[in-house]
Amino acid sequence: MSAKGLSIIELEKVYPNKHGGKPVHAVDHISMDIAPGEFVTLLGPSGCGKTTTLRMIAGFEKPTGGDIRLGDQSIRYLSPDKRDTAMVFQTYALFPNMNIYDNIAYGLKIKKLSSAEIKTKVMGILELTGLTGLEWRHTNEISGGQQQRVALARALVMEPGVLLFDEPLSNLDAKLRIQMRTEIRKIQREVGITAVYVTHDQAEAMSMSDRIVILKDGKIEQMGTPEEVYYSPNSEFSANFIGTANMFYGTVTAQQGSRLTVSAMGKELENVPCYRTFKTGEKCTVIVRPEACSVKENGLLEAKVILSTFMGSYQLYELDIDGNRFTVHENNPKNKHIFKSGEKAFLDLDIADTHAI
Ligand SMILES: Nc1ncnc2c1ncn2[C@@H]1O[C@H](COP(=O)(O)OP(=O)(O)O)[C@@H](O)[C@H]1O
Ligand SMILES: [Mg+2]
Repeated sequence: MSAKGLSIIELEKVYPNKHGGKPVHAVDHISMDIAPGEFVTLLGPSGCGKTTTLRMIAGFEKPTGGDIRLGDQSIRYLSPDKRDTAMVFQTYALFPNMNIYDNIAYGLKIKKLSSAEIKTKVMGILELTGLTGLEWRHTNEISGGQQQRVALARALVMEPGVLLFDEPLSNLDAKLRIQMRTEIRKIQREVGITAVYVTHDQAEAMSMSDRIVILKDGKIEQMGTPEEVYYSPNSEFSANFIGTANMFYGTVTAQQGSRLTVSAMGKELENVPCYRTFKTGEKCTVIVRPEACSVKENGLLEAKVILSTFMGSYQLYELDIDGNRFTVHENNPKNKHIFKSGEKAFLDLDIADTHAI
């Protein structure tokens, strides 16, 4: 199997509005380069253009503009079967009148491989996906998780240059979904195949991806490794879409390289990390994650405890500071002082764990 790099260049899709309103800009000039063997996830809320992007890569949807390159070739004008892509659908789309073996062998038969070659490939993929022994069952005689594996096996057996997934785990129960994340990622790594994975589930994106592309209204909001998008979200949208984020608003009073002095909540906060140039007097948003904060008897900012809830691995606090709401996850609360709701306390945090946008 030869994994290929995938480049999306200024890709655009406009749907005419059948009901007379404005056309829908489903995908709005997005560009990205995906390396051979890389696992990239398109993440965003419903309607942000994930499926449309994936379907344009697969050739099920015609772009309005831009280009798609797989390996060293433009595939924009190729029919789906000529593209060297394979898709795993949310609904699995298995052939109900065929057994597992024939479902997986189907594409190879169309390619007119000999039955000996087909058998070798199908048996190999059955083993890789943990389906050995089920090959003669029909699709209604296996579980949802197993159907999902068959869908994956059927795509993998074609040895495509890139494997496309559209919310493949949505129909599984929560526990199986978490198990299948690891499973899919493990198989993808073993085979070394390039993968583009679509989900609206941030935990899925975080746990599986080499890189995450956050989409909003058909545009790329942010692209980066899970660590980059989690620790350095570049917008309030990204910060809220991945995990929980605390934000407060301030004014920049000075900048020294990648550090700001920010006047916020009656304090002068020094050495706030940042990734761009700010003007003096410019308004900014400071972001910090709940687990980087703690509630103390003394600390940076005076607060009132609004809510204090034992969550097992952490104590969940909601604080009010000057009308701003803060969420705090105090990890391993067993031997810590627990503040009750209604009590006065202080929010403490390390400025190095914040950043300004
Ligand atoms: N065939 C279509 N005709 C008109 N509008 C469409 C069509 N398919 C999708 N859209 C619109 O394009 C936008 C993006 O849709 P989609 O790519 O399915 O989003 P996602 O997969 O992120 O939920 C949405 O506003 C959706 O309503
Ligand atoms: Mg979709």
